Amino acid sequence: MPSLRDAARGRILFGGDYNPEQWPEEVWEDDVRLMKEAGVNSVTLGVFSWARIEPRPGAREFGWLDRLMDLLHANGIGVVLATPTASPPPWMGARHPETLPRTEDGSVVWYGSRQQFCPSSPVYRRYAAALTEDLAARYADHPALTVWHINNEYCTHCWCDETAAHFRRWLRTRYGTVEELNAAWGTAFWSQRYDSWTEILPPRTAQYMKNPTQVLDFKRFTSDALMECYVAERDIVARHTPRVPVTTNFMPLWSGQDAWAWAAQEDIVSVDIYPDSRDPRGGQYNAMIADMTRSQAGGPWMLMEQATGAVNWRDVNRPKPEGLNRLWSLQSVARGADAVCYFQWRQSRQGSEKFHSAMVGHAGEEGRAFAEVKRLGRELAALGPAVAGGEVPADVAVLHDWDAWWAGAQEGRPSSLLDYTEVIRRWHGALWESGVVTEFARPDADLSRFKVVVVPHLYLLGDGAVDNLVAYAEGGGTVVCGFFSGIADVDDRIRPGGMDARLRDLFGIRTLHDWWPLDADASVECDGFRGTLWSEELTAAADAEVVSSYRSGELAGLPAVLRRGRARYVSTLPEPDALRALLAEVVREAGARPVLAGLPAGVEAVRRGELLFLLHHGRGSVTVEVPGAHEDLLTGTSVEDRVELGRFGVAVLRSAAP
Ligand code: GLA
Repeated sequence: MPSLRDAARGRILFGGDYNPEQWPEEVWEDDVRLMKEAGVNSVTLGVFSWARIEPRPGAREFGWLDRLMDLLHANGIGVVLATPTASPPPWMGARHPETLPRTEDGSVVWYGSRQQFCPSSPVYRRYAAALTEDLAARYADHPALTVWHINNEYCTHCWCDETAAHFRRWLRTRYGTVEELNAAWGTAFWSQRYDSWTEILPPRTAQYMKNPTQVLDFKRFTSDALMECYVAERDIVARHTPRVPVTTNFMPLWSGQDAWAWAAQEDIVSVDIYPDSRDPRGGQYNAMIADMTRSQAGGPWMLMEQATGAVNWRDVNRPKPEGLNRLWSLQSVARGADAVCYFQWRQSRQGSEKFHSAMVGHAGEEGRAFAEVKRLGRELAALGPAVAGGEVPADVAVLHDWDAWWAGAQEGRPSSLLDYTEVIRRWHGALWESGVVTEFARPDADLSRFKVVVVPHLYLLGDGAVDNLVAYAEGGGTVVCGFFSGIADVDDRIRPGGMDARLRDLFGIRTLHDWWPLDADASVECDGFRGTLWSEELTAAADAEVVSSYRSGELAGLPAVLRRGRARYVSTLPEPDALRALLAEVVREAGARPVLAGLPAGVEAVRRGELLFLLHHGRGSVTVEVPGAHEDLLTGTSVEDRVELGRFGVAVLRSAAP
């Protein structure tokens, strides 16, 4: 199978989305001059070029793309070539309005922006396949081609009639009979029973709360329907170029695609990461997405897009202060990225993204953005041979699952304040701050190589996943599980007793009486810490150890944290310091270690292959103790026993030979 290694060839890919169709051809020469100056070795071409290549149905205008592919190749720049199927031209919507998606209430999503296609539309799929076929045939043997990039950030949802028919086909495969579907969806409730397949619809706008299992299945279906579009195009390009790896870029922690399932269909896993430059925890967010993407890839991954400075889609869009782009880029490399790419190469002068930063901003080659890009390009070139392909060891797994997210994030639950992504972020953040490198894993994955498995919050756990977790614990693994987990089965049916009996047994819970979610900003006192967001009324089994009890409110005296053997259950969300302390203790006890002990605040250490990355997230200066003699690959200097890191400073150390 082709992989990122084939494209990177011992380098770190460096570059970005290149949209030359927005510029006169004279600018292209200048682009290439600046790319070479910056050490750019890879650009992503064609993402939004559909209307330029196929200006009217069936037309093909490849001449401009031929010239670009040749120009880039002549200058030693590889091309990640996109199938431009994310943004159909207006002619498609005008001639084939059935390709336009419809919202839950039946409104049409019109052209005039991007991504306006119904994934179930046979007409859209036919045009997309025909264009992909011709694109692949034309560039199959072009020496510039290094990676196929299918579509872009698959994210459309549609509730139209074509989608309804497709959803029914999907449901037939899943359930076989309408009676099975009725049983799974619990349609005895509120007179929702279906008498035939033709009555079944996507969950459209309704009078009151929708059937939760119908909603869950629709999310599963939508992820699968989009994946069919991806697979269809992937198969076309792979037929033409079996040795060129294929990817599609994920959005991080995006609920619309089950990235575990999608990653299995890709040669390269790639992602677009846009931490908020105003977020003091932006570094943790970047680390979390890097860990998640590396886990999906099972190794090196591709940072397909990030911003050199400001984005243009938050309420307030601020640039990255000097050095932050470099820090977060090298952090991604530390955590397994073998490609550091941006949206986009040259900042647009027109269109919706003219205020979005780029590698070459409006200030041009004199601008700070480009100066920082050049520095990073040099550094990545120096690091490439030592770092590319290197592995990032991790002993601790964080479980994460789309089914659980989809089922849990619905209406009619105990608390709408419970935000799945924020809970994941808090648990990952607690480990990150303790200097423990984590991987993410799906609940039914082989967990045997991890010393600790952390379950921040998995509302839904299928039987297989429960068996897997129990087997891992019985095999000597350490499990820490957060509140409101193991509550529902795969059909979102509450488990007898309110929580899976095997899990109650594992954690030493005798009876789970009720859930007591907390108000925003409220907290509950427990022995040794304060809990937030959630609490639970439960009693302990006779042989369980109560690690901490609630001390205030209705639950005073009842267990907050339980332990049975190596398994722990945490029935609230401890405040950040407490969660960090709790997890640090678990990790220590299980024999897992932070990468470096005694780091100054704000310094992150990550090992990748034979290298030690030290990343300083603060603005002052710090000294990090690193016993022994090392070479800093960024400066080419020798370092002994300690290294100084300035504002957003980074060192990449290799032990000097004894
Ligand atoms: C996404 C898209 C890009 C661009 C950026 C802006 O990542 O893939 O085309 O719109 O967002 O941040």
